[in-house]
Amino acid sequence: MTLKLRYADAPLGHEILGVDLSQDLDDATFAEIERTFDQYGVVLFRDQQLTPRQQADFSRRFGSLEKFLIDTFLLPGFPEIFVVSNIIENGRPIGMADAGRNWHSDMAFVEQPPRGSALYALEVPHDAAGVALGDTLFASTSAAYDALPEETRRRIDGLKVLNSYRIFTERKARQEMGDGGKKTQAEREKNKDSVPDVIHPLVRTHPRTGRKCLYVSGPLSVGIVGMPEAEADELLDMLREHMTQPRFVYRHSWRVGDFILWDNCAAIHNALGDYQLPQRRRMHRTTIEGTVPF
Ligand code: SIN
Repeated sequence: MTLKLRYADAPLGHEILGVDLSQDLDDATFAEIERTFDQYGVVLFRDQQLTPRQQADFSRRFGSLEKFLIDTFLLPGFPEIFVVSNIIENGRPIGMADAGRNWHSDMAFVEQPPRGSALYALEVPHDAAGVALGDTLFASTSAAYDALPEETRRRIDGLKVLNSYRIFTERKARQEMGDGGKKTQAEREKNKDSVPDVIHPLVRTHPRTGRKCLYVSGPLSVGIVGMPEAEADELLDMLREHMTQPRFVYRHSWRVGDFILWDNCAAIHNALGDYQLPQRRRMHRTTIEGTVPF
């Protein structure tokens, strides 16, 4: 069977048309969705109406679901759903207010990071003119790798990157943040000493497509094994800038009912924080187990 796609003006972020994710999809349809997801790295389904159970059931077809590290923000009764939101109810944040506010690959601070993540939009903030805020940017790490000069590819193939949740949390503490952000930071502080630093390949091979992907996760990637600090900082900064050039990026403007699935090897993403209460944003995220990067 062939799915109908609406192509984004980017290497990733294409929309899959005509699929209702609340239904029990047959194996052939699911196989085609998975093939499309593997091929492009980020896919979008619009106009969905999903209960938390339906979101979890569809996400689980790609692999076991993971529980997010910060359990304060798990949806009550649904530990597989992590709430991303700036909403405060009864004086408490219902979700993580500043999730993903920099270019990153989810949970690159663990040894076996997730294969993919899915975000379902329940409330989307708007400005006074009705323009949606809180866009998410996605960049193709495989297109970025392919576009590197041969000499740079030779230089970086085989290097190992050091990812540190502890150093990331300490640096984050020095930034300005609003009330929601401060509460999230307090949760990070609680966890930071229990998450050991991890080493991953700087160039990953996608476990399903075999494509090479750059694996630099924003401010979490703090060094390169065996390389002097200044040289590593310069190289990581150069790669961060290269990977996020407009030609590799899809910018998603959210609508209620959007469901986006992204691959954490083939893409990095960045959530824009250009809104604040009373502009409300509420998303449900599911996180799909992955394999150890190689
Ligand atoms: C995330 O990185 O999980 C959140 C992305 C978003 O809120 O747009």
